[in-house]
Amino acid sequence: MTSSSPAIRAEQLRAQLHHHGHLYYVLDAPTIPDAEYDRLFKELQALEAENPDLITPDSPTQRVGGQPLDAFVSVRHAMPMLSIRTETDTQASGAQAFDTRIRKELSLTESDPWVDYVAELKFDGLAMSLRYEHGVLVQAATRGDGEMGEDVTQNIRTIGQIPLKLVKPPAGDSLFDASAWAVPEVLEVRGEVYMARADFEGLNERQRARIAQGMKGEKTFVNPRNAAAGAVRQLDPSIAAERPLSFFAYGLGEVTPEAQGGPRFDTHYELLMALRQWGFPVAVQTSVVQGAPGLVAFHQRMGQARDALPFDIDGVVYKVNRLDWQRQLGFVTREPRWAVAHKYPAQEQLTTVQAIEVQVGRTGKLTPVAKLAPVFVGGVTVTNATLHNETEARRKDVRVGDTVVVRRAGDVIPEVVSVLAEKRLYEAQIFTMPNTCPVCGSAAVREQDEADHRCTGGLFCSAQRKQAILHFAHRRAVEIEDLGDKLVEQLVDAGVVNTLPDLYRLGFTALASLDRMAEKSANNVLASIEKSKQTTLARFVFGLGIRHVGEATAKELARHFGTLDAIMDATLDQLLQVADVGPIVAQSLRTFFDQAHNREVVEQLRACGVHWQEGQPTAGASLPLTGQTFVLTGTLPTLSRDQAKEMLETLGAKVAGSVSKKTHCVVAGAEAGSKLDKANELGIKVLDEAGLLALFAQHANQRSDSKPTPL
Ligand code: IVH
Repeated sequence: MTSSSPAIRAEQLRAQLHHHGHLYYVLDAPTIPDAEYDRLFKELQALEAENPDLITPDSPTQRVGGQPLDAFVSVRHAMPMLSIRTETDTQASGAQAFDTRIRKELSLTESDPWVDYVAELKFDGLAMSLRYEHGVLVQAATRGDGEMGEDVTQNIRTIGQIPLKLVKPPAGDSLFDASAWAVPEVLEVRGEVYMARADFEGLNERQRARIAQGMKGEKTFVNPRNAAAGAVRQLDPSIAAERPLSFFAYGLGEVTPEAQGGPRFDTHYELLMALRQWGFPVAVQTSVVQGAPGLVAFHQRMGQARDALPFDIDGVVYKVNRLDWQRQLGFVTREPRWAVAHKYPAQEQLTTVQAIEVQVGRTGKLTPVAKLAPVFVGGVTVTNATLHNETEARRKDVRVGDTVVVRRAGDVIPEVVSVLAEKRLYEAQIFTMPNTCPVCGSAAVREQDEADHRCTGGLFCSAQRKQAILHFAHRRAVEIEDLGDKLVEQLVDAGVVNTLPDLYRLGFTALASLDRMAEKSANNVLASIEKSKQTTLARFVFGLGIRHVGEATAKELARHFGTLDAIMDATLDQLLQVADVGPIVAQSLRTFFDQAHNREVVEQLRACGVHWQEGQPTAGASLPLTGQTFVLTGTLPTLSRDQAKEMLETLGAKVAGSVSKKTHCVVAGAEAGSKLDKANELGIKVLDEAGLLALFAQHANQRSDSKPTPL
């Protein structure tokens, strides 16, 4: 305990908590452990409990407080909250158009230098106005109609990134004139409240758990913007406090004028930097750029970075940097002439479901696929979106004729996010999975504890046959380069190829007689089939398409047993000795090789000349990285992802897709995103390409298998 008076101690604690809160929430660079922060916080709470008159509205203990409201109170903005014009051209040339207009309106000629702009991100959240009087947050209001908004102070106070009290600048440490630093009597900060993607995922996960527990009135949120809007407009501040929100500042509203001791700024960038000093988060991407080329470059750079950002943006915003020019340019109706929003193609769009088709995969899995009215989303035209399985299709309750939200972000496959139930025109039938295969008519069954329906037709089903052939020919299996899906379709439909060995019995005449097959292409196909005969045991086993036997398992089997016969004849117990092989995989292997027709296919393939070098079993022997899990992320300067993976696997490492506590090492290249962040967060070792090559060189001579994988 301290000997100073409770009032002085409370003041000290508040100052320390403000300081460390800012380091933690805004700068993301805490200097004390969380436990120490908690200790200070509890000490202040205890002090305030004993001396309630010491509680101040800006006390860090007062972020969550207050009673649930019946309704929000309307408030008039001291200065209207403007909106911003949107450049209609979503191409980079939209930036050019803005610069041209600005130069014209400022009467600049070709001989005048480039105009400086501040280029910012356009955050996809809700506009907010934060009013500080004498440095203390007194009101937070939504934009509303621009003139009148709603007082949401109680909820906004719960956002750790928003200072309850402005940070006082340290004397003599200013980048700018000290007057820009002093805390003004009145300061309105304008910015965006948003929810970070990870926080959104976490929130939805908690919501799903609540729904699963049968809690009434709970729902999941469609996207981070929606979740943020719901949290801000939550009448009960204790619920708002459970919805993790963030904030970025991008401008000012009312400020004490310079003549009355207020700050002086000459440029927009200066005022943003002052906001940062006062304790607000200002996005690190915010840049001063020159002229149209600077704007175009920023637009492109952020377009590429977009998917890797920890929050959603829907575009970028350009603002003339000089404030005297901003004043000269003025406004048209409610929009400033000195700023423009330049959007990116939306990642979510509305479209309608024209049909729900059921497709049959290689292992007989039936997948419902929504056939959509073509829609341009995330930069491409989308006409299909998978509904995964019956449970998913039912959960989303997608029906023919529905209007749906389709999302495509980055190169992730398009998905139906939700249905606009209110737009359902008529009571279309609820989707049900057929009980027969839509291709071959065999029974379709869903086994207990399985999400998927499967066609039981096996290789009798032409859809499964086609997929099985394509899988065998895949780049990672025996690799038949020129055998594409159209050709396989033709070959199977024409009855020329029914089984895998039939591929190796194909003659020129049969191929050349197919539609649209020129002599040259027929020869190319035959050459690539011939080439595929020389393969590796791992590729061959993977190519057989045995359920649950992926590429990694196939490699492990090949390494462990050395020969195909040893794999085919292994007992369940022997199979279970293999790293990575559990009871389900072992059973699947046994089932496959117990079927005479599968063994027959293998024998015929060997008879047709498919061969590999058989090796020594290495059962029990371990490689330098056996038991270690690596994750690859970003683009490496010279190695392809496949090459890096193969190098690691040669040393016995397992290569996984996501970072967890079990990951031993992450290999990161350019534009590594969240996986690298996670690795750093968890304190996992990170290597670059040079590090990986060094590791490989170090171990390459010690590998215990006699056949190095060619790189
Ligand atoms: S400036 C006077 N800058 O986009 C200009 N707005 O209509 C006022 N927004 O809902 C807006 N990021 O909340 C500005 N960096 C940014 C922004 C931004 C997002 C939102 C804003 C408003 C809309 C503009």
